[in-house]
Amino acid sequence: MYSFIRTFQVKLLFFLLVVAAVTFFLPADFPELLQLQHQDQSLCACEKCLSEENLFILHRLNRSEEPFLSSNTNLSEDAFRWWKLIQNEQRDFGSYKATVHKLFELFPSVADLGKPSADSCRTCAVVGNSVNLKGSRYGPLIDFQDVVIRMNAAPVKDYERDVGTKTTHRVMYPESAVDLDNSTHLVLFPFKIQDLEWVIKAFTTGFFGRSYAPLKSKIKAKRDLVMVINPAFMKYVHEIWLEKKGDYPSTGFMALILALQICDEVHVFGYGADHDGNWSHYFEKLKSKSFKTGPHPGQHEYALIQQLAEKKSVRLYKGW
Ligand SMILES: *[C@@H]1O[C@H](CO)[C@@H](O)[C@H](O)[C@H]1NC(C)=O
Ligand SMILES: *[C@@H]1O[C@H](CO)[C@@H](O)[C@H](O)[C@H]1NC(C)=O
Ligand SMILES: *[C@@H]1O[C@H](CO)[C@@H](O)[C@H](O)[C@H]1NC(C)=O
Ligand SMILES: *[C@@H]1O[C@H](CO)[C@@H](O)[C@H](O)[C@H]1NC(C)=O
Repeated sequence: MYSFIRTFQVKLLFFLLVVAAVTFFLPADFPELLQLQHQDQSLCACEKCLSEENLFILHRLNRSEEPFLSSNTNLSEDAFRWWKLIQNEQRDFGSYKATVHKLFELFPSVADLGKPSADSCRTCAVVGNSVNLKGSRYGPLIDFQDVVIRMNAAPVKDYERDVGTKTTHRVMYPESAVDLDNSTHLVLFPFKIQDLEWVIKAFTTGFFGRSYAPLKSKIKAKRDLVMVINPAFMKYVHEIWLEKKGDYPSTGFMALILALQICDEVHVFGYGADHDGNWSHYFEKLKSKSFKTGPHPGQHEYALIQQLAEKKSVRLYKGW
């Protein structure tokens, strides 16, 4: 389905051939060697691979959940009913399906995750917007990862030393949209049917509708790098990861679970408070010390991230 899965299949075939050859030529008194090879069937070459991880992550991580919409995704009515409550969608399932159909007349019908890196270990940096990035000098460490996922309008310019320069994926929704360069994937998180209409029109005629915040009418970005998050994936994060706490997950939390889904190794930057307990963005002046996350179960999300880090399922960089 994704190109890296195709590569994976080719590699799996090769691996099985090698195992067959080894089995054929090996005298029977080398069972340990064979056992070792079986354990390594994930073919991920990271020092530590997610699929081998502990029960905490295995209980929740489900790689069969499709994070991105493709032209043949069949969203269940059940998932649609959950999704439409997020921003009080009034239109029906038929309108959703018709809009998704239009979406794939314009954008790639399958999300392309690109080639895995040469050593079969796809490393990812998920970069949140916390003020704890300020003064961290994480820039080079972030840029070192194969995939760098940033959020919404988070700036890079003037913050390079702390946040790096590379952005392979930028997650956004229409109200948070910014223009992208020609090598960055636009990862749309749709929260209502209008969000799907927005991305279609922002690339074509211009969008002139309204929302709870001003909207960009047009966006500069590469059409063939657009990926749209599957509403069923949002429901999965809400139900399985957050156990239905809060109304729906924050974009930052969903982006982190997305990384767990598509990466072999996940490095997490810019989540949580700074060492003074301030919750704010690295690119803003502190407005208040209090922590408000609206409909999102923020404290619970952060506790889960800390748990993932404790179990070494992600590497969490806490900054300053
Ligand atoms: C994983 O996700 C798939 C697709 O939604 C679902 O059919 C399956 O039951 C899930 N597995 C577990 C263990 O929840
Ligand atoms: C979605 O449904 C259509 C028609 O029922 C079917 O042809 C297609 O294979 C399904 N797609 C997936 C991914 O299950
Ligand atoms: C992408 O942009 C860079 C710099 O802005 C330019 O040098 C390059 O030619 C562009 N590549 C494509 C494929 O458009
Ligand atoms: C964080 O909070 C402390 C104490 O309230 C304050 O002195 C400090 O300036 C804040 N830090 C930032 C980066 O705004």
